[in-house]
Order: sequence, then structure tokens, then C-alpha cells
Amino acid sequence: MNYKNLMTDYENGILVVTINRPKALNALNEQTLNDLRQLFQEDAPELKGLRGVVLTGAGDKAFVAGADISEFTGLDAQGGLDMSQKGHDIFFSIERFFRPVIAAVGGYALGGGCELAMSCHLRVASEKALFGQPEVNLGLIPGYGGTQRLIQYIGKGRALEILMTGDMIDAQKALDWGLANHVVSHGEEVNKSIEILTKIAKKAPFAVSKTIASVNAYFESQKDGFEQEVIEFAQTVNTEDFKEGAAAFLEKRKAVFTGK
Ligand code: CAA
Repeated sequence: MNYKNLMTDYENGILVVTINRPKALNALNEQTLNDLRQLFQEDAPELKGLRGVVLTGAGDKAFVAGADISEFTGLDAQGGLDMSQKGHDIFFSIERFFRPVIAAVGGYALGGGCELAMSCHLRVASEKALFGQPEVNLGLIPGYGGTQRLIQYIGKGRALEILMTGDMIDAQKALDWGLANHVVSHGEEVNKSIEILTKIAKKAPFAVSKTIASVNAYFESQKDGFEQEVIEFAQTVNTEDFKEGAAAFLEKRKAVFTGK
């Protein structure tokens, strides 16, 4: 895997991806978006034995401080449409990724950075993390799904306040409001994410994938989540891992899942 702005480290089925533009607080320029698209849509699905992904930012200050504002010059309506659609496409491929993706947030997660963290399945924040959608300060609204996903995590009233004031919330408030799953000491966010993924990796991988698909269906207007659950449930019943899980329970032993 070869990227200009991402570093990757693959060990024990867990891929740690670091967005590597610390001088620009890991802002999402076009190259970084292209790298993320290649990783989530082409390379990572092909990784043998992949069980989960941790997404984090390089340096001590930021997860991602947003879309790269230096690329905004000369942007017209068509450019805005293209930019937003491209972001949606990439962020949906993270949200719909077949393995769990955790955002390890060790600092600013602003604008497109908060949106990127929200497209991941879980968020582990360090005590220094700050979340926000400051686009109104630039005369913009979020373009990478922020107006929709923020409501899903924290509710309409809180989302509207964050979106309209541009205020940041700290890690503790993010935890209290359901945006962060965990708050850990600064510097421990990647380790904690790996710990969670290691726990999930012991479960039946197909069942984990189908859990992601069923939960996502709740938020997709063209799908009925309950109907989707019926379909996904039937598919999990049709696996060797289901037979193994049920047999192990009845035989009072630990299940050994193979992913089949
Ligand atoms: N784009 C490009 N460069 C950025 C950036 C961004 N989003 N955020 C920070 N940087 C750069 C700064 O320009 C600065 O570069 P130089 O050293 O070359 O001047 C460097 O990163 C360090 O930043 P600061 O000196 O500003 O650091 P600070 O500690 O004083 O402030 C901050 C940190 C509060 C995060 C501040 O950098 C900031 O407000 N950044 C912009 C945040 C923002 O508005 N994000 C939303 C972008 S729009 C968007 O994301 C739209 C969308 O939904 C698609």
C-alpha cells in the first residue's frame, strides 16, 4: 500500500492508518481524499485477514482540522458540488466498510475532520480532543455529511447549536452526548482502539459485517432496517461460524471462528 499522505501499519489483522500532514493539522486536501478513497475502496478490502481499521492523525495537535482551506480559492458552485459528492462517496465507503473502523481522535476534529470521525463506526477520543463544525465561520455549511451524521449521534437541538455557533465541544462533552465512545489519556487513543478491535476480532467476522450493514440500514431512507435485519440474519444463520458458535455454547467451550 503506497500513499502520499497516509502511513499504514498492518499487524495482527488490524490496519492503523495515520493521516500524515501534521504541519497543516492533517487537513484533507485532494491528495489525502484520493489516498483515503484508494485505501477504503480498493486496497483495504483486499487485505488478507483484515479484522478492523484504526484511523488517526499524525502529530500531537489534530486528528484532522477539516477540509484544506488553501484549496478553496476559486471554488465555484460546480466545484463545490463535485467536492461534496466526492467526500460523500469516500465517507460512505468508510461507514459501509465491511470491517469495523475506529477513529482515534487525539486533538482537533473539525469540519471535514469531525465528519470523517463520524463516518467511522466508533470514536475513541483523548482528553485533548475537540470536536466541531466551524464551517459557518467560513460562510459554508459542512459538505461531507456533517449536517446529517451529527444529528444521528447527538440529536437535532445539540447538532443545530454546534452547526450554527461553530463552537467546539471537548472530549468529555462528546462522551456525554454520545459522539465519543470512550475518552482516554492523551496518547492512548490508538492503543484503546486496537484493544476494542482485538476484542471484536475474536467474534465471527461475517456476523460483525452484517451487524454494520443492519445498523446502517436504520439511517438509509431507501432501506427498511427491520427488513434488512431479516435478510442479514438469514445470511449469518447460513455460516459455519454460526454452527460453531451455537455448538461451542452448548458444549460449554470457547468458540473458534474461521470467518466461513
Ligand atoms: N486547512 C488548511 N490548513 C489548515 C487547516 C485547514 N482546515 N487548519 C489548520 N491549518 C494550517 C494552518 O493554516 C497553519 O498553517 P501555517 O503554519 O502554514 O500557517 C497550521 O495548520 C497550524 O494551524 P494554526 O496556526 O491555525 O494552529 P492553531 O493552534 O492556532 O489553531 C485551529 C488551530 C483552531 C484548528 C485552526 O487552525 C483552525 O481554525 N483551522 C481551521 C478549522 C476549520 O475551519 N475547519 C473546517 C474547514 S471547512 C470544511 O471542513 C468543509 C467541509 O465540511 C467539507
